[in-house]
Amino acid sequence: MQPKVLEEWKDLAILCAKSAGKLSLEKMNQPYEVNYKTSASDLVTAVDEEVEQLVIDMILKKYPDHGIIGEENRFKGDPSDAETVWIIDPIDGTTNFVHQQINYSVSIAVYHKGEAAVGVVYDPSRDELFHAIKGKGAFLNDRKLELTREVKLEEALLCTSLFWNKKAEQFGIDVIFKELAGKVRAMRLLGSAALELSYVAAGRLDGYVSLQLNPWDFGAGKLIIEEAGGKVTSMGGKPLPFNEKSSVVGCNPSFYAELKGYIRSNMFLNESAVKDE
Ligand code: IPD
Ligand code: CA
Ligand code: CA
Repeated sequence: MQPKVLEEWKDLAILCAKSAGKLSLEKMNQPYEVNYKTSASDLVTAVDEEVEQLVIDMILKKYPDHGIIGEENRFKGDPSDAETVWIIDPIDGTTNFVHQQINYSVSIAVYHKGEAAVGVVYDPSRDELFHAIKGKGAFLNDRKLELTREVKLEEALLCTSLFWNKKAEQFGIDVIFKELAGKVRAMRLLGSAALELSYVAAGRLDGYVSLQLNPWDFGAGKLIIEEAGGKVTSMGGKPLPFNEKSSVVGCNPSFYAELKGYIRSNMFLNESAVKDE
């Protein structure tokens, strides 16, 4: 893809993310509808839907032939026919948006022929914008992100949502992570996968592990980590897909083998638990 086109996609993705973030901040202190998706722990608000619609309208105005995959399913076309597909999580961390009014993000990725071309993650409450273009590096606002610091397991600040994941319990992976928590410097959980992946790229976290995420959770963050020089795969070590669920390991490159080896060497309970889905 021509560099000029990639730049145009990046500029529109940033404009969409900033407009979406502004709308979320405006709506935050007005009454809005909150509904449950699968349970009381799985929220969706009218703001998620409104923000997704805004982003879709902005993309289609400029690129009517592009496909869109959005968490809230507001795109009316069929993205499987398009060469270029935008993957949107209008609000990643809806629980944080509702409860904390911080620690949520807008995640927008552009994939061309199945490959990540552009990734943008915007934190409206802190006005922090992470972005990457394939082959052109990753940035936090204007600062280039480069994961050059060596990290050992015992020095790592690790992030995971595995402890209270029912599937992790079912396969015993929660036990492995409890043990791992005792070996690393500390564990964190922010509640927005896109932001957590971006924080790995920025060196604010050394690694992030999830048993199952959707493409809109990891689509942009994956490219931002890779372009910062980090490593992102499924728990089984495979490249992440662009259009289906997957487990995710994203981390500082010096720490990947150790972290991954730890996950593997402790998979005595059930190897199928880390199979790619
Ligand atoms: C969720 C967040 C959360 C992750 C969940 C996601 P949502 O996204 O990224 O950190 O643990 O798996 O579903 O529902 O707030 O967009
Ligand atoms: Ca999400
Ligand atoms: Ca969401």
